[in-house]
Amino acid sequence: MEKLIIEGPSKLKGTVEISGSKNSSLPILAATALFGEEYTIKNVPRISDVHTMLLLLETLGAEFSFYSNDVHIDTRKISKWEAPYDLVKTMRASVVIWGALLGRFGKAKISLPGGCAIGDRPVDQHLKGFRALGHDTEIVSGYLESFTSNNTGGSYRFEIKTVTGTENLILASIFAKSETVLYNCASEPEVLDLINFLSSLGAKITKTGGTIKIVPVSSLSKQNEPYCVIPDRIEAGTFLALASLPGNDIEITKCAPDDLVSAIEAAEGVGSVVKLGDNSISTHPADDLNSISLDTGPYPLFPTDLQAQFMSVLILAGGTSKIVENVFPNRFIHVAELRKLGAKISLDANIASIVGVRGLTRASMQASDLRASASLLIGALSASGRSEIHRVYHLDRGYESIDNKLESLGAKIWRKNE
Ligand code: EPZ
Repeated sequence: MEKLIIEGPSKLKGTVEISGSKNSSLPILAATALFGEEYTIKNVPRISDVHTMLLLLETLGAEFSFYSNDVHIDTRKISKWEAPYDLVKTMRASVVIWGALLGRFGKAKISLPGGCAIGDRPVDQHLKGFRALGHDTEIVSGYLESFTSNNTGGSYRFEIKTVTGTENLILASIFAKSETVLYNCASEPEVLDLINFLSSLGAKITKTGGTIKIVPVSSLSKQNEPYCVIPDRIEAGTFLALASLPGNDIEITKCAPDDLVSAIEAAEGVGSVVKLGDNSISTHPADDLNSISLDTGPYPLFPTDLQAQFMSVLILAGGTSKIVENVFPNRFIHVAELRKLGAKISLDANIASIVGVRGLTRASMQASDLRASASLLIGALSASGRSEIHRVYHLDRGYESIDNKLESLGAKIWRKNE
């Protein structure tokens, strides 16, 4: 295992290019299994979660190449419809292969994705949705087993907004017997990116607010041009948090500011002056940060995936800030680690109260999940002295070459084997 060593405090200056979206790439790659064809997907980030998804698709019979950020994948030879435990357990997002296999073969056997650091990650909405749409689904010795009846389609109203739940039901409905209408769907940009990808292949999907309608087709068409994945709004938001720290001067490029409205409001709330271009965000941070309150929620509310990163900014803000985590039950694991830097954070159920401090001091910290790792990185860059972040493989799951990107901004950061 590797650890990151960071010499702080850093004053970062320069331009950072945002990579393609992890949470778009994963469902779009899974969607290539829905219809056996050759596909080219561009702007795919070189991160371990993408490699895990490609390995899963290869296990099912697909062939792929991945050069630079372009994936060429041939899914014509996919013949298996079972996603094995050893791959599903490492990445919850592999659950979206469920809808693709069900749509293609009329059956799918997926290991229960299991829990992770941020919660037990249930799939009850996926399961209820599949059943409501004519796919008999049971849990058999730790596996989700679905078999399609002759009467697929209909409607389902999600009881809670779920991103991969929405994506799974879309994938399973493309070739249904009759029309499908899904209510109370997730509206994250990554869901729209999946819909755009499927529509580019001839799928008939319309989204009006939280309602998605799918008119079934009998097959999809060949790609007439490569599909380019949207920029990663969570990576961009991570750098926006970093750019909001006093003394930094960072321009974020190749991003989609329209996908980051709530994060930009938070950055302005702490005192940053933010300038937007079509694909760029420039931030002039305040010398003294204001405290703010943040409530996470489904898009377009403030993203739970940026909660930890903005906490690392608020620990240095004057006064007391509050963060309410409304999406996941256990997404404050980074708090104990940030306290090692000298942060003053108290927790009461899903509410974090943060009393700003003047400065932070180096510490040795343990990463626990992807976004918490980014929060520790931001904290270490602000702290005086040499910090260490252990188990950095969590960070590599979702950030492409983040240490190189930070180094190019002037950070003193390097990797070492544990
Ligand atoms: C997606 O996860 C993202 N992952 C997550 O990003 C993100 O945090 C999350 O959406 C929320 O925005 C990908 O897109 C690959 P959910 P997902 O189903 O779909 C509950 C990252 O760091 N729920 O939208 O798994 C669930 O427990 C990752 O990039 C049910 O109760 O999340 C949670 O409280 C972390 N039953 C809430 O809904 C279900 O059947 C939202 O979960 C499904 C979900």
